[in-house]
Amino acid sequence: MKTTWIAIAALCAGASLPVSQAADAGRGKQLHDKHCIDCHSGMVGGDGTLLYTRKNRRVHSYDALIKQINRCDQSLGLKWFPEDVRDVAAYLNREFYKFPVKR
Ligand code: HEC
Repeated sequence: MKTTWIAIAALCAGASLPVSQAADAGRGKQLHDKHCIDCHSGMVGGDGTLLYTRKNRRVHSYDALIKQINRCDQSLGLKWFPEDVRDVAAYLNREFYKFPVKR
């Protein structure tokens, strides 16, 4: 399964050269729903997204969001590409965090 994702990610990266393209929040949602939701929903119930909007949430800036996704990625051993992290960040930010995005 993991190999499939790496292969797909590699294909996407190859197909979309040059690399500097806008983040794809739709793709980020797919990655997030596949890899991240179960654990979070075990923690806060529902679909797990409450974690991102709870009062005492930990993430308070776009940079911190990227860092937290990297942290979860590393502890899970997913070995996501920077594009994967960026896309998931775009999704989480668009739906929940709503930090101003600098590009
Ligand atoms: C094994 C369980 C687990 C999985 C799987 C997991 N997380 Fe988490 N995540 C946590 C825990 C635990 C916290 C809360 C840390 C805290 O509150 O100190 C957290 C917190 C977060 C937060 C911060 C929420 C806030 O307070 O603002 C983000 C963002 C996040 N995770 C993203 C992800 C992403 C993206 C993935 C998929 C790559 C993922 N997580 C997968 C356990 C997990």
